[in-house]
Amino acid sequence: MPGANAHVANGHLVSVDLPTTKSPLRTKWVARISILLLFLTFCSILDAVKHRWYVFDPKSIHELAQAAIAHSPTPDDTAFMTQYILKNLTSTYPSTQIALNSDSSEWLFNNAGGAMGAMYIIHASITEYLIIFGTPLGTEGHSGIHAADDYFNILVGEQWAFDPPNLKMERYPAGSVHHLRRGQVKQYKMHEGCFALEYARGWIPLMVPFGLADAVTSTLDYKTFYYTVVVTGREILRNLLILKI
Ligand SMILES: *[C@@H]1O[C@H](CO)[C@@H](O)[C@H](O)[C@H]1NC(C)=O
Repeated sequence: MPGANAHVANGHLVSVDLPTTKSPLRTKWVARISILLLFLTFCSILDAVKHRWYVFDPKSIHELAQAAIAHSPTPDDTAFMTQYILKNLTSTYPSTQIALNSDSSEWLFNNAGGAMGAMYIIHASITEYLIIFGTPLGTEGHSGIHAADDYFNILVGEQWAFDPPNLKMERYPAGSVHHLRRGQVKQYKMHEGCFALEYARGWIPLMVPFGLADAVTSTLDYKTFYYTVVVTGREILRNLLILKI
């Protein structure tokens, strides 16, 4: 019996000490599991209060997307809509409340879940991001599994989605919102050119690996990888500095 000591006298077995219940190995595991439980409790508390750090809300972002479409000189003028959205946001939200990236020339390619497009990060913090994402060519891929709710406000073109067991195509035209709930998975397609104002709220850092995995395992586009990390990190830091979590 491992850990058991037998006491023998005159060739007879007189007693056997069973392993003590307080073996160092057991104490170690009790400590490890306690730390894990404490950590999980801490995470669930943070998850319950994260909404306090939200600045944007899905409804006003949707209204803004619709206003940008309504004011656009042509239905495919993404550059105009981007400027319209930026102007509205910078005059609505004080820079002491939320940091916005006003450099609308800062577009980055993005490959994720097999789809390719480009994005302009308007805002990124620990609990929210707001980007313009799309491509004039069309693309298709996996939505990813996210620890965040994602509101895809279509500005230009159309996005399609597939969510079995519903075997019919979901169709999201310009002006509509495709809400991908936290944890939900879909196949999506921007059949032809499509751009959207994408608002995500939840745990943004947990979305980053999905956003970068294709660069590491497929495209090997180290420049895009580098700039994505730099711009995302910079925007999250700028927000942390004004205590926007
Ligand atoms: C921003 O857009 C929203 C939605 O269209 C609108 O209600 C609000 O008045 C706009 N704010 C500014 C400062 O333009």
